[in-house]
Amino acid sequence: MPPKFTGKTQKAIPIDFISSDGLKQWLAAKPEALKTWVKASGFSAGLGQVLTVPDADGNIKRVLAGWGDADARGRGRYWAASIAMKLPKGVYEFSTGLKAAEQEEASLAWLLAQYAFDRYKVKSGAKARLKPGKNIDVKRLETLAAGEFLTRDLINIPASDMGPNALEAAFQKLAKTHKAKVSVISGAALLKKNFPMIHAVGRASDQAPRLLDMTWGLASHPKVTLVGKGVCFDTGGLNIKPGPSMGLMKKDMGGSATVMGLAHMIMALKLKVRLRVLVPAVENVISANAFRPQDVLTSRKGLTVEVNNTDAEGRLVLADALAYGDEAKPDLMVCMATLTGAARVALGADIPPFFTDSDKLATVIAKAAVQEADPLWRLPFWDPYEPEIEPDVADLDNAPKGGFGGAITAALFLRRFVQDAGDFVHLDLYGWTPSAKPGRSKGGACQSARAMLRVIEREYCNE
Ligand code: BES
Ligand code: MN
Ligand code: ZN
Repeated sequence: MPPKFTGKTQKAIPIDFISSDGLKQWLAAKPEALKTWVKASGFSAGLGQVLTVPDADGNIKRVLAGWGDADARGRGRYWAASIAMKLPKGVYEFSTGLKAAEQEEASLAWLLAQYAFDRYKVKSGAKARLKPGKNIDVKRLETLAAGEFLTRDLINIPASDMGPNALEAAFQKLAKTHKAKVSVISGAALLKKNFPMIHAVGRASDQAPRLLDMTWGLASHPKVTLVGKGVCFDTGGLNIKPGPSMGLMKKDMGGSATVMGLAHMIMALKLKVRLRVLVPAVENVISANAFRPQDVLTSRKGLTVEVNNTDAEGRLVLADALAYGDEAKPDLMVCMATLTGAARVALGADIPPFFTDSDKLATVIAKAAVQEADPLWRLPFWDPYEPEIEPDVADLDNAPKGGFGGAITAALFLRRFVQDAGDFVHLDLYGWTPSAKPGRSKGGACQSARAMLRVIEREYCNE
């Protein structure tokens, strides 16, 4: 079910948002019975608390929603989602207590609370529906939520049902929805058309490695190219991952899932860009023809790479895709990937790092991240670490020894394959919510798509 608001004329139960220090004042002019009910229920307007108030017939007349204080709210986001989850089935509307600036996030939060990964199990999100406020851009918020849900679903579906074949099918379906064009290069054709590293990483799988390529929009509009890591499962290859590290690796196509969610938003909102989406889709597995440590690969761009760890496969497949994208000289190239464990060690699961050489773009991204409640933090393309990715026997090393600054050295590796794009940004995503939070169910997570949508709208669209 796509996330939807109700119509704007529907009858709805009003919700009053009350901050903890505003409860007394809010109650002052209210009837004695309501004061008694609030007191008897122990409602203190703590963040996320919900109190329904019945009328004389026993129907819910209004809802009091605890909005806590700024400190409590600052410890998270999407708090309105936790309220939506606690309410019984029905139609509600925001009445008082939310600032104009809070309404949009709260409305989006409500939609995000509807998500449930129920493909294998019937378990639904919030049943309470929201009648949108007057100033809410319904189409936009519904589109954002739909894009997020697409990303979450693609990540959540296990590799048994989301290998390279299924990822291609999902890619084709998205393109068809928006009348975009797709071309696919797979298997041996990757060698013929010069994508040697995508082939090397993916050739050991029963499902052929491939490069998915979508274009949409007028050729005269600014060119925006999204590249997403599509490693449908990452065993680590011959440098096999220990069990606990392999446990979540169905999410290693999170970058591709996120560029697809973002592409959905861009196309549904009809942004004036020439969009291109590139996804190298592979499975990093073991068989007799798997690529090996110390193999030297020649990339599409011509740079040679010594494979010092088959588990650093993401940068290999992305390098060929980025080089290909770069050939068309896009105005903006965005790379999204669940690329390194080091990014998580640095910043944790919730705030992915981004890398760009443009201070101007970095400022725009940081601002959009805050405005969209889609947190991101800049890390540097630190030139002095360049020697780390230069081994003795080839131009590049895919896995510097020691692993210090691993998110940075991985980013530097990718940057070597981009030279002609106007701006380049790489985002090292986690793609997963480790434990449920308001509006964010446990499992696949869509990080950075809404922030990047804003950035593209502001800086890279015609008009
Ligand atoms: N997909 C992993 C990175 C990853 C691991 C992302 C856990 C999110 C959570 C990637 O392919 C990988 O294995 N990277 C290695 C690189 C190393 C061998 C240089 C890593 O981060 O350990
Ligand atoms: Mn890996
Ligand atoms: Zn990986």
